[in-house]
Amino acid sequence: MMNFCSALPIKTQRCFLRKLEAEDFIQLYENVYSDEKVSRYMSWNRHASPSQTREYLIRWQEYYKDPSECYWGIFLSDSGVLIGTIYLYPENKKAEIGFLSYCLGSKFWKKGYGAEAVRAVLEYGFNTLGYYSITALCAKSNTPSYNLLLRSGFTFDGCLRKRDKTYLGYEDCCYFSILREEYASL
Ligand SMILES: CC(C)(COP(=O)(O)OP(=O)(O)OC[C@H]1O[C@@H](n2cnc3c(N)ncnc32)[C@H](O)[C@@H]1OP(=O)(O)O)[C@@H](O)C(=O)NCCC(=O)NCCS
Repeated sequence: MMNFCSALPIKTQRCFLRKLEAEDFIQLYENVYSDEKVSRYMSWNRHASPSQTREYLIRWQEYYKDPSECYWGIFLSDSGVLIGTIYLYPENKKAEIGFLSYCLGSKFWKKGYGAEAVRAVLEYGFNTLGYYSITALCAKSNTPSYNLLLRSGFTFDGCLRKRDKTYLGYEDCCYFSILREEYASL
């Protein structure tokens, strides 16, 4: 039985996660969504202007009305700087399967923040929202994301042919999942 309760705030060791507000647009644009190194692995193109990010966040205030849509900004606790976003939404409500996606501005890579945010959202997804499994996809060439998923306890389920278009063109994608019982025994 799912308990959708929206993206409530979460604290991790070095970060806090909270819903984004329209006023976050400058940081989100400058630190993350204008960054081509980030967007080349995402399903969207880099944002072209701060106003595009502002409009995007205004639309999100509507999407947040659906409590199954869990989209957080990832902020550094000591400075309040917005470093990335993480999104967990139902891929299949009946089967209680969630889909996870995340990104950090490239200035903030390789410091372990991705793993910290994924760990916190897995905990939230299984223990608060009640998912049975959580899945994620990453392009074959996206080694940092591939490693992050494996290190977070996900299992590689298989490859989907030409499932995404990255800066390298159409790419096969790796499909990962973690089940409730696997999470419980981590
Ligand atoms: C995928 C992505 C989120 C990974 O972010 P990240 O924070 O660098 O990932 P991790 O948390 O796994 O960081 C681990 C690295 O940080 C290093 N690190 C440094 N300090 C650390 C610390 N205190 N704790 C843990 N790891 C630390 C680790 O050694 C490791 O380096 P290695 O990969 O060379 O072994 C990031 O590359 C990204 O946003 N990419 C673009 C968007 C994207 O691809 N999203 C996913 C789409 S599927």
